[in-house]
Amino acid sequence: MVGRGLWVCKPRFGKRGSRLGVLPFLCAAAASAALLALLFVDFIESWVTSMSMNTVVEPHAGIIPPQSVPPTRPEEFLLMPSPLVCQRAKPYLITMVTTAPANQRARQAIRDTWGGEVEVRGLRVMTLFMVGVASDPGLAKLLIEEARERGDLIQGRFLDSYSNLTLKTLSMLGWARRFCPQAHFMAKVDDDVLFNPSALLHFLNKSRNPYEQGDLYLGRVHLHVAPDRDPDSKHYLPAGAYPPSVFPDYCSGTAYVLSRSALLKISLAASASPLSTPLPPEDVFVGLCARAAGVLPSHCPLFSGGPAVPYGRCCYQAMVSIHHIPPREMLHFWADIHSSPPYCYGTLHYYTDTYCRCRANNTGMLIVNGKETQLLMR
Ligand SMILES: *[C@@H]1O[C@H](CO)[C@@H](O)[C@H](O)[C@H]1NC(C)=O
Ligand SMILES: *[C@@H]1O[C@H](CO)[C@@H](O)[C@H](O)[C@H]1NC(C)=O
Ligand SMILES: *[C@@H]1O[C@H](CO)[C@@H](O)[C@H](O)[C@H]1NC(C)=O
Repeated sequence: MVGRGLWVCKPRFGKRGSRLGVLPFLCAAAASAALLALLFVDFIESWVTSMSMNTVVEPHAGIIPPQSVPPTRPEEFLLMPSPLVCQRAKPYLITMVTTAPANQRARQAIRDTWGGEVEVRGLRVMTLFMVGVASDPGLAKLLIEEARERGDLIQGRFLDSYSNLTLKTLSMLGWARRFCPQAHFMAKVDDDVLFNPSALLHFLNKSRNPYEQGDLYLGRVHLHVAPDRDPDSKHYLPAGAYPPSVFPDYCSGTAYVLSRSALLKISLAASASPLSTPLPPEDVFVGLCARAAGVLPSHCPLFSGGPAVPYGRCCYQAMVSIHHIPPREMLHFWADIHSSPPYCYGTLHYYTDTYCRCRANNTGMLIVNGKETQLLMR
């Protein structure tokens, strides 16, 4: 708009400006107004956002029909922190926790453990929660209270339900792209996951080279998964909605990490691809968008994916994400893995579980699933 206005104005200024009299004046005024609007866009946005923060949202009132374009305007979110939150905090890593309105205890356990950290290994980190609209009016009011008190909730305009998880991911991608371009990495984590930003940053640092600038889509990669054609399953995806017999490889939705460039490409690919009915599972959806964007998933054994991992201090210190952790255990495990020395040096832990083989020997090396990693010391 602005560019076009100036383009139209320009020739008139030079040639016939004096004859037309008011036209150049009007053009100049329009251009200045547009410039002012641009300068104050953040201010206007925070005003709009604070308005919506203060409105008691009736459940269902703000719901818009599903579309594949990731929402990026403040008014597309019913609740969110200040649009300047990332500009101020400049997080290196932003972690977006997908959570249901009723899971207040899970959110609190995360705030009291890994989500409460603001600096890890000398880098700024930030954790925010993604929710949809609660169908229960009481719950909806509690969410507004929680958002006011904690300032870490982002609420998209869709009904919060299991089958709408993909819409939550879409909201998350849009929000992070629009309001947190400062972050080098974005992690998506479920609210029953014990996430370990320190282990992730350590891993990213070790593998710094192609990732820092390039595309990274990291997690536990599921290979050659076939769509669920069972109509009774909660992941049912009929051939009409997704004809191919296999999904592109994708990272388990329990926890995955995107670099800034991968986030941008994947969210742009999401805008270009229509949503099917029923929606594909959220992690499959991200995998589909990643493939469309030419971003390949990278596998890391430090992400547990779906299955539970038996507790062991050394193992949990080394893992980036562990699934199926109820709130009480999260507090307990977190306290234990950060308890006083002795750490893993000189101890031997061995798990025969297929999903996590962690062994620390007395040289301080840790072997996870046969791959050697350095011990994480705080
Ligand atoms: C990254 O690795 C370098 C060299 O090993 C180290 O000096 C630095 O502290 C590490 N940074 C983080 C964030 O772990
Ligand atoms: C998903 O959200 C949309 C609104 O965006 C709503 O119309 C629809 O009923 C929801 N689906 C389910 C199964 O909750
Ligand atoms: C510890 O692990 C490292 C790496 O695999 C290996 O080189 C070293 O010999 C091991 N030390 C002992 C005492 O097992």
